[in-house]
Amino acid sequence: MTTGYFVTGTDTGIGKTTVSCALLRAFAAQGKSVIGMKPIAAGRENGQWMDVERLLAASNVVVSRQHVNPYAFDPSISPHIAAQQMGAGIDLTVIHQAYRELCKHAEVVIVEGAGGFLVPVNNDQTGADLAQVLNLPVILVVGMRLGCLNHALLTAQAIRAAGLALAGWVANGIDPGMMAVAENIDTLRQRMLCPLLGILPFCGETDSQQIAGLVNTQLLTNFTA
Ligand SMILES: Nc1ncnc2c1ncn2[C@@H]1O[C@H](COP(=O)(O)OP(=O)(O)OP(=O)(O)O)[C@@H](O)[C@H]1O
Ligand SMILES: [Mg+2]
Repeated sequence: MTTGYFVTGTDTGIGKTTVSCALLRAFAAQGKSVIGMKPIAAGRENGQWMDVERLLAASNVVVSRQHVNPYAFDPSISPHIAAQQMGAGIDLTVIHQAYRELCKHAEVVIVEGAGGFLVPVNNDQTGADLAQVLNLPVILVVGMRLGCLNHALLTAQAIRAAGLALAGWVANGIDPGMMAVAENIDTLRQRMLCPLLGILPFCGETDSQQIAGLVNTQLLTNFTA
């Protein structure tokens, strides 16, 4: 039986891939077979979709890239616009099918969403629909910077309104200049109503091997099969 998690964030560029890789390495260190999935990637750099590369590097099972990343777009823009520009559509059933394939090969599958939780993926669906279709508990990465309290609480509300479990959250120190970080974390600790899985400091070189030790997967035990 595979355990899956959907990793979302308070915004784009706040550490979803970083935390997803840390989770993959933490589960792998427990002897589990793990695969990272990036269903929708937008933004090609030097011929590569870096999120997909990073997730593949943190996975310990070899699987088809098509299943890891069914949709990839060149421009770094919202997926529904990127898809429209290419005359393509994003079909969540295709992603669900790919996820099911990955589940045949690993004990843990970590699915990284695109952008924030409610980012549109096509004309009438968002990242919330994707998490619902996959029916996964959600891990929220909070990029610690001014404004994150509102973004974190709004996102937590949206996740629960979608009928999904909020399995935990991670405080990611993306802004070395942020003031009152500890007080902000304490505020969220009191209001998120789910476990704080880890506090990642700002680190110039985000080494997911090192930060894997800072994410406590044991707090996710309620959700493991
Ligand atoms: N704790 C941290 N300390 C320093 N830099 C960080 C930290 N976490 C993430 N970063 C850096 O911030 C950038 C964005 O991180 P990451 O790619 O993990 O975000 P993301 O939410 O996955 O972005 P996207 O929305 O593009 O998928 C990367 O360059 C990453 O190395
Ligand atoms: Mg990412």
